Amino acid sequence: MTLVHVTDLVKDYRIRTGLRRTRLRAVDHVSFDLVPGRTVALVGESGSGKSTIAKILTRMEKPTSGTVDVRLDDGTPVQGSLYRRQVQMVFQDPFASLNPFHSIEHHIARPLRIHQRTHTAAETHQRVLEMLERVNLTPAETIAPRRPHELSGGQRQRVAIARALAPGAQVLVADEPVSMLDVSIRLGVLNLMGRLQREDRLAVLYITHDLATARHFSDEILVLYRGRIVERGPSDAVILDPHHHYTRLLARSAPDPERRDRVTAAVTVDRDAIDNSVCYDHRTRRWEQAGVPSATATDRPAVG
Ligand SMILES: Nc1ncnc2c1ncn2[C@@H]1O[C@H](COP(=O)(O)OP(=O)(O)OP(=O)(O)O)[C@@H](O)[C@H]1O
Ligand SMILES: [Mg+2]
Repeated sequence: MTLVHVTDLVKDYRIRTGLRRTRLRAVDHVSFDLVPGRTVALVGESGSGKSTIAKILTRMEKPTSGTVDVRLDDGTPVQGSLYRRQVQMVFQDPFASLNPFHSIEHHIARPLRIHQRTHTAAETHQRVLEMLERVNLTPAETIAPRRPHELSGGQRQRVAIARALAPGAQVLVADEPVSMLDVSIRLGVLNLMGRLQREDRLAVLYITHDLATARHFSDEILVLYRGRIVERGPSDAVILDPHHHYTRLLARSAPDPERRDRVTAAVTVDRDAIDNSVCYDHRTRRWEQAGVPSATATDRPAVG
C-alpha cells in the first residue's frame, strides 16, 4: 500500500512580458493526502493550478517549495524507479498521449519491460492481453496489433489507463481523463476507473471541472481557486453544503436541466471579488487561512 502526503506545495512560474519578468504563483501552499482505495477530486476552473499539481505529483515539474512524500505502509520512502512505477498519470487528451506510429501492444508492453514486470516476449504478450481485457478492450487479440488511430477516443483512453496500470501503479493521477471524450462514453470510462481502483486499491487524484462526477466518483473534494484550496471535505458535504463563495458559484454554474437560467448565473461575477485567502474545511467545520504554510502535517485532519 502506498500513501501520499502533499505538504505546502508552491509552484511559481517566471513569465516574460516584453522586457519585464514577472512571477506567477500557479500553486500556493496546497496540502492533501492520498490513501489507498480512495479518490480525491481536485476541482476548479481553467488556470487554477490543477495540472500543475498533477505534474508535480508525477515528477514532470519540480515544486518551488513544499514536499510530495510517498511511502509504503511500513514507512519506506518510495523513490527513483519505484516512484515512476507506482505513481502514474492518465492525461486529458487520448489523441496526443499515444504514439501514432506504435501499436497498442507496444504502448502497454513498454512499461512492462522497462519496469521488469515481465521477462520473456511470450509473458509480455500474455500480460498485454490481460491488461486489455481488464479495461474491457476485447477481443484483446484483435485490439493489440492496432494503431491508436484505429480506435475511438474512449478506447484510446482505456489503453492509456491500461498503460498506466501496467507497471503496477498504486497511485493514479487522472487529469481530466474524460473531458475530451463524447459525453455518451464518459461514464463508461469513469466507471472503469472506479472498478480498477477498487480491485487494485489505488489511491486516485481525479482532476475535473465537473462537480457532478467529482461527487459521484470521489470520497473527498478539494476546490481550487487561483492556486489555493478554498474548500475541502467529504464529497457530499462540499456539494450539498458549499460554504465558500467560489464553490457556490461553481455549483450554481453547473448545468441543471431543471433550471436553465442557472448556467448563465455565474457569468457576470466579479472574479477579483472572490476571496481565496480563506478555506472552509468541512472536517474541522472551521474557516482557515489559505495560501499560508500549514500547521505541521500531523496537525492536519487525516483523510478517511
Ligand atoms: N510552463 C509554464 N510556464 C508558465 N506558466 C505556466 C506554465 N504551466 C502553467 N502555467 C500557468 O499556471 C497556471 C495554472 O496552470 P494549470 O495548467 O495548472 O491550470 P489548470 O487548472 O490545469 O487549467 P485547465 O483546467 O485549463 O487545464 C495558469 O495560469 C498557467 O498559465
Ligand atoms: Mg489542466
